Amino acid sequence: MQGKLKNTIITAALPYANADLHLGHIASTYLPSDILSRYLRHGKANVIQVCASDDFGTPILIAAERAGKKPEDYVAYWRQRFEEDLGALGIRFDLFYKTSSEENVKLVQHFFTTLHKNGFIYPGDVEQFYCNVDKKFLPDRYVKGRCPYCGALDQYSDGCENCGRTLQPGQILDPKCSICGTPPVKKSSKHYFFKLSAFSDQLKDWLESNANLQSEPRNYVLNWIKEGLQDWDITRDITWGIKIPLPEADGKVLYGWFDNHLCYISTAIKASGKTGKEGIEFWNDSTVYHFIGKDIVYHHYLFLPSMRLGEGEYKLPDYIPTRGFLLLEEKKISKSRRWGITIRDYLGVLPPDYIRFYLTRITPYAQTDLNFDLEEFRSKINNELVANIGNFAYRSLVLLDRGYGRVVPQPGESGDAEKALAQARSKAFQESSKLIEAGGYDRALKAILEYSTSCNQYLQAKAPWEKRDGAETAIHASVNAVASLALLLEPFLPFASAELWRQLAIERPLSLEWEEGNKDLLRSGHKTLEPKPLFRKVEETDLESLRKFLEKK
Ligand code: 2FM
Ligand code: ZN
Repeated sequence: MQGKLKNTIITAALPYANADLHLGHIASTYLPSDILSRYLRHGKANVIQVCASDDFGTPILIAAERAGKKPEDYVAYWRQRFEEDLGALGIRFDLFYKTSSEENVKLVQHFFTTLHKNGFIYPGDVEQFYCNVDKKFLPDRYVKGRCPYCGALDQYSDGCENCGRTLQPGQILDPKCSICGTPPVKKSSKHYFFKLSAFSDQLKDWLESNANLQSEPRNYVLNWIKEGLQDWDITRDITWGIKIPLPEADGKVLYGWFDNHLCYISTAIKASGKTGKEGIEFWNDSTVYHFIGKDIVYHHYLFLPSMRLGEGEYKLPDYIPTRGFLLLEEKKISKSRRWGITIRDYLGVLPPDYIRFYLTRITPYAQTDLNFDLEEFRSKINNELVANIGNFAYRSLVLLDRGYGRVVPQPGESGDAEKALAQARSKAFQESSKLIEAGGYDRALKAILEYSTSCNQYLQAKAPWEKRDGAETAIHASVNAVASLALLLEPFLPFASAELWRQLAIERPLSLEWEEGNKDLLRSGHKTLEPKPLFRKVEETDLESLRKFLEKK
């Protein structure tokens, strides 16, 4: 069976190895990627889900210097934290690797060499900022200033966080050295450029013909192409990065955005266990998804595909699911303003499934900004997770426990109510499947909640605790509905789902195929374990604990 399934490679944007992941990253990228992977693993595809730490670049070097650590040690520390934190949230990767891996360095240098040979990389002398006090070139974040497009102050010289534009070295206005604050001077340095402009037509064709891309990013990327693409300086005068494989480029490294997205390829192929030609074939025979947040559209819709086109061996992505930013209580997450909740912060207060549930509920398949509202979070958890799903599961299992010694009874004839319940279940499986495959995880979860509501109504109407005729049928139907819900919820709430499987004493639930859940999984005579409530209510004190992370200090 597995052999016939389509291979699917799912990547989630690689976090920079210099800061903890926060809820914004989870909402836009890691959670959507995990939901799809988990769903597809139920008999829909052979999935490889990968991620890696984004190790190179000026910001990381600066941070390592500040921490008094070697950059290698510094990034290893963050990579381990990412694995721990994402794992604690139930976000599972087949491989969580690093952009500084041997495999990636090799692939990146191969890309450089091939693109150079194919005429897509050319040298040029550029005026670079240079600090006479610190005696060094100042790439990217070593310089701060005013954005030439929107005028925002205090922006790094490689991109504006306010308007989202990528800036070329030298474009920033009123530059200052970020180490000592002195205005830098300009000094000439030999750099290499990637001919992004040469790919305008091919990029346009790809954007217009790939129906899987979302229309919003497609349209604004097409506009950028219309405005004219700038060739792209891929050199940095620092030591922390992948060496440019040319003798005359000694002492220079590649820009982080040249190497990081290639790590999707090197990591997925490593995870597949294939090498050489077979590795390339594996990549090209797979359906490829790159999950990202909307701040890195430019890089994923332009740099990434044009580099693959120019090298010629690796297919372009089929999907680039792109979602918006998460605001916290209507304000932008900001480390410097201390407005943010990291995974660690959150998990010190509440269980992982609660935030998975809430973020999925509020995150559409679009680039609109989302808002984490603490009161709404509490009411969604208490009214939907606890009062709807948790209540139905616990009540059903308690009724089985008290009335039948936890042994699933023999059902009688199905009546209209049972038929309606079976229909509601079919609808939940079909709709959630259709919606997940179309990227609408929020809507899929809503459809599952509606099914859970029907289950509650069924149980209430049947009142099997009164032990009237049909009580056994109702218990049989209800506990089977709980088993179906456990499967429906697995992509969204893996911890609650695993706990339900445990209580239901169902083995190997993760290898169940999606459609199998649309049948009765529990036969009469099956014995379950002691029921326990799945969730608890979110209290005001929990919100107070979360609010502490939003206090200006
Ligand atoms: O913007 C970021 O956080 C980058 N580290 C994302 C890199 S994704 C990739 F590798 F393409
Ligand atoms: Zn300086």
